[in-house]
Amino acid sequence: MLIVDRVDKSYKKGGLFSRERQQVIKTVSFQYEQGECLGIVGESGCGKSTLGRLLLGIEKPERGSILLKGNRVGGKRAGRREISAVFQDYTSSINPYFTVEQAIMESLNSLNRDASSRRENHAKVDRLLQNVGLDPHCRTKYPHELSGGQIQRVCIARAVATEAPCILLDEAISSLDSSVQMQVLELLKKLKEVNKLGYIFITHDIQAAAFICDRIMFMRDGQIEEFVSSNQLTNVQSPYAKKMLQMVIA
Ligand SMILES: Nc1ncnc2c1ncn2[C@@H]1O[C@H](COP(=O)(O)OP(=O)(O)OP(=O)(O)O)[C@@H](O)[C@H]1O
Ligand SMILES: [Mg+2]
Repeated sequence: MLIVDRVDKSYKKGGLFSRERQQVIKTVSFQYEQGECLGIVGESGCGKSTLGRLLLGIEKPERGSILLKGNRVGGKRAGRREISAVFQDYTSSINPYFTVEQAIMESLNSLNRDASSRRENHAKVDRLLQNVGLDPHCRTKYPHELSGGQIQRVCIARAVATEAPCILLDEAISSLDSSVQMQVLELLKKLKEVNKLGYIFITHDIQAAAFICDRIMFMRDGQIEEFVSSNQLTNVQSPYAKKMLQMVIA
């Protein structure tokens, strides 16, 4: 579904007039199959979110290419509905002046705008709320009336509403407390099976990645260090991945 081929990305380093650049993604290549749950883990600053933005087409690679079903990501022919996203900072990813219903409707209406679909969309909101484990009464609530876990569920409902076959989650559960993290992970697992969704799950939490992902990519300093199946995590080869694992087990 997604073919990443020798992608490079750098950012300007230093002040306004500095010519120095920091290479953040270094010749990264990999493939992602539809329906797969791929974890991207690595230390803070190793380039996970930058890679995520490149995959979403929010930023462009300097060199190399990212093809989504044969079309260049971010290009004119790229399908917009293929990957949706849920980010860590749920408070800013949701409009504070929108009710839960309006927030979800916005996603649904971006697919179908005519009047009859709008009526159908109304009914779909109920189903989506149910799917993400939110009470129907949440419909009329504003974000400030909800808990962090509830808002993140609304963000997931919106991502599901786009009907994209893949959802990219960048530290989407990191700001939640551990019991709510577990609930959201269980929810993602359920949605994966029911809606046949695939995920690209960016996190620094190997345990969360192991819980939900089929395959885990270890990133280090802008490069791919190693791929490993989640059920063979203890067989990692590189010292970096071993060290990351040990920190969890210890
Ligand atoms: N827009 C930008 N402009 C300049 N530098 C940036 C920009 N975005 C990221 N960087 C730099 O690129 C490097 C990688 O950042 P990135 O956010 O991708 O890391 P990360 O792996 O997601 O880290 P974290 O786990 O802390 O979220 C960092 O050194 C960061 O300072
Ligand atoms: Mg990040």
